Amino acid sequence: MKILFFGTKSYDKKFFEETWNKNEYKDIRLDYIETLLEPDTAVLAKGYDAVCAFVNMDLGTRTIKTLSECGVKLILMRCAGFNNVDIAEAQKCGITVMRVPGYSPEAVAEHAMALALTANRHTHKAYVRVRENDFSLNGLMGTTLYGKTAGIIGTGKIGSAMAKICRGFGMNVIAYDMYENPELDFVKYVEFDTLLKDSDLISLHCPLTEETYHLINKDTISKMKQGVILVNTSRGSLIKTEDLISGIRDKRFFAVGLDVYEEEDENVYENLSDSILQHSTVARLLNFPNVCVTSHQGFFAKEALEAISSTTLENALCFMNGKKNGNEVF
Ligand code: NAI
Repeated sequence: MKILFFGTKSYDKKFFEETWNKNEYKDIRLDYIETLLEPDTAVLAKGYDAVCAFVNMDLGTRTIKTLSECGVKLILMRCAGFNNVDIAEAQKCGITVMRVPGYSPEAVAEHAMALALTANRHTHKAYVRVRENDFSLNGLMGTTLYGKTAGIIGTGKIGSAMAKICRGFGMNVIAYDMYENPELDFVKYVEFDTLLKDSDLISLHCPLTEETYHLINKDTISKMKQGVILVNTSRGSLIKTEDLISGIRDKRFFAVGLDVYEEEDENVYENLSDSILQHSTVARLLNFPNVCVTSHQGFFAKEALEAISSTTLENALCFMNGKKNGNEVF
């Protein structure tokens, strides 16, 4: 099986090569390119059985059609989310889509808590200040999480890891999900509006779907507690950014931590320090002293990269042997 690995970064290659060498995947050949998979680059997959892609690529209708014309039979998403893949088109073209449903959920949950703590206690600003010999504390005051209420939206793998972390901080944990997670006996499930009203910290862990698109908007923000801390490590479009910015300006939020945001696609994983940004979203968000933004790095921990590379290659092997392992998207 020949796989074309799109959007390769040095760390991707390191972990995939190590896994490939360890496990004798000799019937699988991996070719790495830095190019992102998009409608105009999909043609590079000609002659390959499979492509390997990530969250920052465009696997919409045009890309899938081209992949199909090139003879590709398998899309290996080296991530959990697949909202950037036109699944219906893939199905129509007879292309199987596989993903890595759960790689170190703790890696993402720990990053969510790191963002909450950083934005709340202004560690990002304190770090810079002290380096400039400015030892003053004005503007750095935070709040304690102990004894406060954490509201978790979506209690799947990552949400439940976050719920456990919040409990460890001495927080009262409430959650909203259509399905209650029986593992979380310390969590009280509540209606969505109750979660918005009662939470001091809201952390988003549901997938991006038609239903959850712009889940956080003017209306839902108006129902939140004054001075809430909001964290999003799930997908940017769960939050309507314009409404978030208005809410921040209206001082509704004590702190906001974002690992994902709308319009991130053109920035994510690229060093644009010498470029003039074409979108103003990040610039505007970075302007607020109580907002901390990272570049979709929740997954970026050693254990997660090991799990991603081994599950992705296992997925390829399974497909090659005509078997199913449950990681198929449909
Ligand atoms: P999961 O599938 O284990 O859990 C998702 C949960 O959300 C499920 O319990 C589901 O019932 C619930 N849900 C679905 N629709 C909902 C709604 N309308 N309201 C409330 N709950 C709803 O997924 P997992 O592994 O926990 O990942 C969650 C999300 O995290 C992924 O969809 C992905 O977007 C994001 N993610 C972000 C990463 C990062 O690097 N920042 C890395 C990995 C995932």
